[in-house]
Amino acid sequence: METITIGLLGLGTVGKGVVTLLQKQAAKIARTQDFRFKLKSVAVHNRTRHQNDDLPAGTILTEKVTDVVDDPEIQIVIEAMGTIEPAKVAICQAILNGKSIISANKDLLATAGEEILRLAKTAKVDFFYEASVAGGIPILRVLSSSLETDKISQITGIINGTANYVLTAMDREDRDYATALKNAQELGYAEADPTNDVQGIDATYKLIILSRFAFGQSLRLADIPRRGITKISPAQLASAKQFKMKIKLLAVAKEAGHQLYSLVGPAAIPAAEPLAHVNGVQNAIAVQSDALGETTYTGPGAGAAPTANSILSDLLATGDDIVKGDCGREFNNYRKPAAAQSLTTVPQRYLITVEEDRSLTNSNYPDLFQQQTVGPHYWSGLTSVISRDTLEKLLHTLEKNGAKVSYLPIANSWQPVPQE
Ligand code: HSE
Repeated sequence: METITIGLLGLGTVGKGVVTLLQKQAAKIARTQDFRFKLKSVAVHNRTRHQNDDLPAGTILTEKVTDVVDDPEIQIVIEAMGTIEPAKVAICQAILNGKSIISANKDLLATAGEEILRLAKTAKVDFFYEASVAGGIPILRVLSSSLETDKISQITGIINGTANYVLTAMDREDRDYATALKNAQELGYAEADPTNDVQGIDATYKLIILSRFAFGQSLRLADIPRRGITKISPAQLASAKQFKMKIKLLAVAKEAGHQLYSLVGPAAIPAAEPLAHVNGVQNAIAVQSDALGETTYTGPGAGAAPTANSILSDLLATGDDIVKGDCGREFNNYRKPAAAQSLTTVPQRYLITVEEDRSLTNSNYPDLFQQQTVGPHYWSGLTSVISRDTLEKLLHTLEKNGAKVSYLPIANSWQPVPQE
């Protein structure tokens, strides 16, 4: 049986999860594969912090990334450092040294993915990154294999566990944003600096990767309009509840004609839709496609074991390619040019919430609102499908009265006007 030698960069939550799962599942891997893995070296920032970590006997713990990426014996490098630098330099060096790469680094893949994946293709090494989107949900493999022959028209994801945890806590425990976030940080569900999660940046990175697989389209960060969850108020959640809706941070990409419309931001989801019931740190991705209709993939979007499981599935795929001498095939080879468009500017329905002014009724705007509700400190209405221009005029008029006005799109009410 062939032994494949691997090296690991980083021994945080994800790195430790990989080491644990690799040891735990070694017997099953030996039964299903005609190769076995040997973890040779692990590079960490500070060796003394990891002296007591449970590593397989003989594993080298080093502070030098080059001990892993320049070691001629190592065939696969698992990058579990996160952040763009120094991961990018290490990965490029490893590729140039002929090593296959497995990474969970969505920041890097979204921003420099094209360049690095080209480098890997030229060097004829594998580069898999299942864990970079939605942690344990095997969504990239589903898109690139099971749905390869289907035509996908829309993907809608709850792909940031932190934001979903905070919104769920606000909704269930009637908390304001700051209190819910603080509680999430105390419980370890949100990072000390949660900016990327609550501002939708992390979800945007993941949507960029998903769009490459689903639509063959490489969106840039600037192509995707983004709103975070920091301004969501208890009144908005309460008014959504009155209309039997839930507020979630959504990442959406929708193909119409030769255009790919996208957005990342909070939206109100009618209770009838499966995504309305995805709570806490769970992730979910709803895929609309011609042959299958709507399929929804739900599961843990982060955490040591789920992320490690995705990394190990990449490891098996790479091991298989190494044994067959078939490295260098792309994880995703779908390319289809389309014009990037904003989903925020197309006609759609909105949930409008007006706080600190209850004098409004929908009789003020008979053509705009289909339903209304009144709470202790707010008035709220559901619009019919209206243009962005109409929305902005409405917000302007309402704000003139001194009220605090907010709006949320209603999920799946988007009606892009087909263009050639
Ligand atoms: N910060 C991410 C989240 C971790 O909250 O979903 C997984 O990418």
